Amino acid sequence: MTHIDLRSDTVTRPTDGMRKAMHTADVGDDVYGEDRLMNELQSTVAEMLGKEAGLFIPSGTMSNQLAIRSHTQPGDEVICDYNAHIFNYEGGGPALLSGVQLHPLPGDHGILELAQIVKAMRPVDHHYAQTRLITLENTHNRAGGVVYPLSMIELVAEYARKQKLLMHLDGARLMNAVIASGIDPAAYAEPFDSVSLCLSKGLGAPVGSVLVGDTDFIDRAHRFRKMFGGGMRQVGSLAAAGLYALENHIERLTEDHHRAKELAKTCQELGVLEYDLAWTHTNIVLLAFPAGNTSELEAEFKQAGLLVSVVNDQRIRLVTHLDFNDQQLDSAKEILKKVLG
Ligand SMILES: Cc1ncc(COP(=O)(O)O)c(C=O)c1O
Repeated sequence: MTHIDLRSDTVTRPTDGMRKAMHTADVGDDVYGEDRLMNELQSTVAEMLGKEAGLFIPSGTMSNQLAIRSHTQPGDEVICDYNAHIFNYEGGGPALLSGVQLHPLPGDHGILELAQIVKAMRPVDHHYAQTRLITLENTHNRAGGVVYPLSMIELVAEYARKQKLLMHLDGARLMNAVIASGIDPAAYAEPFDSVSLCLSKGLGAPVGSVLVGDTDFIDRAHRFRKMFGGGMRQVGSLAAAGLYALENHIERLTEDHHRAKELAKTCQELGVLEYDLAWTHTNIVLLAFPAGNTSELEAEFKQAGLLVSVVNDQRIRLVTHLDFNDQQLDSAKEILKKVLG
């Protein structure tokens, strides 16, 4: 049986057009800075996000970790939301790789209020770790693809600048936020000292993220990328996939958002949508099961032809993507009704 795979938007395979671009890509040694297409990809993303420079990183996790390492010193403190990817799904990386402690705050649907951050700020006193960095996530994965309101980011950034704190954005799905809100990518990136954008999620490339910031920051990140073993050689074919994704797969995210909304409506009818429909902003749908039976449900869905992601014992996640079409949407709705109806 071929399953409909809604576990994540990372499950997509390169399209024919993308494969052709990868196949015909010219390559050079990127550790020597000689991969033409990689240089083009890095500068294209930097320009798109209004920053001086960009650096290709093998994964979103490594990109966030390099940002933390490049912005902080061991013993510093980093503020984030308690549902942030950086806090939950990066293997405790900040403690080992940067020697920093995270200070997670209880955000509302992944969104932190300025007042919470002000309260969490450590006094300048030798008893305390020094608050150095604030990281936000847009869209917010664990909150269900929520778009961070720009006005709230700007308030935080204004405070951060006054306090000489740095700001990093985990923008794994920033383009989903851009398409859902109509806000320019550079406007979303402006309040941040660094932004990490994933090419291998909604944008459909097989590998990679691009980290952007000012030239000094990217120089430091480049050094740490090498130190962490992330310097790569003939990466032109990956760059070609990334460039193809930027050209062809941004506008179409609106289709993923539409299909996610359709799934969310069905889930709402079935009484399992975690939040109100209005919180399905982009391509992620969260289902809530207070009975705590998500592993059994996962197996039932699989049996019926649908792969889902278990977030915890009470929560299941569906993510729409490039390889999920209208016909599969109809089938997925039928499977949801069959299993849960
Ligand atoms: C918000 C967010 N940040 C970072 C990552 C990490 O990306 P990767 O799987 O490429 O390490 C993910 C992965 O799903 C994510 O959802």
